[in-house]
Amino acid sequence: RTVYLNGEYLPENEAKVSIFDRGFLMADGVYEVTSVLDGKLIDFAGHANRLQRSLNELDMTAPISMDDLLEVHRELVRLNNVDEGMIYLQITRGAPPDRDFAFPPNDTPATIVLFTQNKPGLANSPAAQKGMKVISIADQRWGRRDIKTVQLLYPSMGKMMAKAAGADDAWMVEDGAVTEGTSNNAYIVKGNTIITRHLGNEILHGITRAAVLRFAREAQMQVEERSFSIEEAQNADEAFITSASTFVMPVVEIDGMPLGDGTPGPVAARLREIYLDESR
Ligand code: PDD
Repeated sequence: RTVYLNGEYLPENEAKVSIFDRGFLMADGVYEVTSVLDGKLIDFAGHANRLQRSLNELDMTAPISMDDLLEVHRELVRLNNVDEGMIYLQITRGAPPDRDFAFPPNDTPATIVLFTQNKPGLANSPAAQKGMKVISIADQRWGRRDIKTVQLLYPSMGKMMAKAAGADDAWMVEDGAVTEGTSNNAYIVKGNTIITRHLGNEILHGITRAAVLRFAREAQMQVEERSFSIEEAQNADEAFITSASTFVMPVVEIDGMPLGDGTPGPVAARLREIYLDESR
């Protein structure tokens, strides 16, 4: 694979980052994941806007313009022949000479890394036919989940808790309400109404979420942006998740309880189809 590091395209085994990098020492960095379908980036502008917002919230400066960043994304897709897959982007606060809790001076160069992952068959994933099982766990992340930081230890632990329970993912719960999945936004469906948590500091503002809600409204479906509990979800007609790496993915079981007849529901299937049609 060819990757991008601080202005250079390099073979992946030649791309090296300092041990003093604050991404490594402090998880002081932000990231984005943009999907690629038919060799084209999906919703790059949305990801670039959210990246800029994450950087602003953490008082970081982008080491590259958003226009140049788009070119780097396109070049990596080309160099690595990505037809279906994704691009990972990470920007950290760089590598000051010593470990220090205080931020380094503003002229410390940020570190920027991008790499691609080929995922042939992403759009036609069999998981979309089968649906996912989720468990609920307490949400023990920090309070600024709207910033897409690389602090992903708790979500990783949540994924392992799900696997240990024979499930595919975990929905996190705070004050009796579902926040989101470990790396995706969570939804339930009741009749023709799609319910998903309102935006705030408690969840990541998903780029796929914004697109799916827009398409749902255009298709005359009702959308409610509000909290819901695991109990309400278990009694819903359907459930699903969204993210750049899964698009719309049905959920068929929550904490061991099947939803409806335990197979993916029609609303999630329709939204997946609309999303894939409209965004590619
Ligand atoms: N995760 N919520 C969380 C906690 C996430 O990590 C993600 C994305 C989402 C969905 O956001 P979007 O629709 O913009 O991808 C929601 C990415 C895919 C990841 O960490 O791999």
